[in-house]
Amino acid sequence: EADVFTYDPGFTSTAACSSTITYIDGDEGELLYRGYPIEQLAEKSHFLECCFLLLYGELPSAAALEDFESRVTHHTMIHEQMQYFFRGFRRDAHPMAIMVGVVGAMSAFYHDSTDINDPWQREVAAIRMIAKMPTIAAMAYKYSVGQPFVYPKNSLDYAGNFLHMCFAVPAEEYVVDPILSRAMDRIMMLHADHEQNASTSTVRLASSSGANPFASIAAGIACLWGPAHGGANQACLEMLREIGTVDRIPEFIARAKDKDDPFRLMGFGHRVYKNFDPRAKVMKQSADEVLGLLGIEDNETLKVAKELERIALEDEYFVSKKLYPNVDFYSGIILEAMGFPTSMFTPIFALSRTVGWISQWKEMISDPEQKIGRPRQRYTGAPRRDYAEIESR
Ligand code: SDX
Repeated sequence: EADVFTYDPGFTSTAACSSTITYIDGDEGELLYRGYPIEQLAEKSHFLECCFLLLYGELPSAAALEDFESRVTHHTMIHEQMQYFFRGFRRDAHPMAIMVGVVGAMSAFYHDSTDINDPWQREVAAIRMIAKMPTIAAMAYKYSVGQPFVYPKNSLDYAGNFLHMCFAVPAEEYVVDPILSRAMDRIMMLHADHEQNASTSTVRLASSSGANPFASIAAGIACLWGPAHGGANQACLEMLREIGTVDRIPEFIARAKDKDDPFRLMGFGHRVYKNFDPRAKVMKQSADEVLGLLGIEDNETLKVAKELERIALEDEYFVSKKLYPNVDFYSGIILEAMGFPTSMFTPIFALSRTVGWISQWKEMISDPEQKIGRPRQRYTGAPRRDYAEIESR
């Protein structure tokens, strides 16, 4: 029987919705934010300017950018009482578990004053989410390492503020390294939005019922955590560490090709890209640049990653299945060089993707024709039949 999917502005099928925000051409390896190529934005723009672009559709004037950055900066603190949510977690809780819980709890602090039918209040919710996610992610990290929380500093830019909240300690001054801050900002830009990926679709479906944006984004964080999605950056670095040296690569390539082995090359393949993920190319250049500037260009993990990529891209299995490195293949190498544990890789993906989630939420909620999402199925169960009395079973 034909796969007949009805189309409407809501969310009912794999052709889920129409959107003006991000365009992907999987065959050409093209990614555009509101029409601008990701390669140009990664080189010339910065994360908050990309946030403005994704939210409002155009690059800002200098005055508009200054106003936007000021509004975000002045919403980076979270309600003081929210810190008690962190203390309910075990110290070894994964930071993603903490983020799911704390972001969901934002509903109890900010939702009451958020009428999503009021365009201005939708703006405020968007600004709050973008502003507070780095603070929550940094607090999740601090809690997991048993260090005191560090408040945001308005004198720092968005990426530098996040690094400061993660790595500063009361005992000594932490000076944000501009190399690391620029690299972090670029990582955030590369992860900002990506059309209707699993977590964005989760946010759209959850909020299509009218659920508040904070709870809907908590659902997106839960979805992103999976190793087939945002959790791949952590899984990829752990895989590269397990491979250890280039001479062990063939063993893992063989495992990835073995249909009876569930192992897959983490950071490889994509549901849409059947060519290079353009973000992976930028990330690879950034890894070379950052590790070079940090004087660790002979990093063994980077060597293994590059050799693994070279071998895989010459292997018939990967070539025939059009499997290329994706955004998660090199990102962990940079984040590890910055001093982050692997458990913080996906939280950084989540805080970066928040602008994509909230921009797509705003686009959907602002559509007066929007309906609740209702995916359909292809039923393959038992045909209609009458009840069987227990004696006859
Ligand atoms: C992200 O959707 C998005 O936009 C996501 C994302 C975003 O920005 O939001 O781009 C972020 O999630 C990137 C993907 C991160 N995940 C990983 O790196 C995990 C490793 N990759 C795989 O799990 C896999 O490639 C997926 C989940 C990404 C895609 O899975 P599919 O849909 O099964 O892949 P496919 O249809 O392209 O697979 C084709 C074939 C299959 O074999 P056959 O069934 O044809 O025999 O290739 C095989 C797959 O088994 N395959 C792999 C593989 N990925 C696919 N084999 C070995 N290693 C891999 N990594």
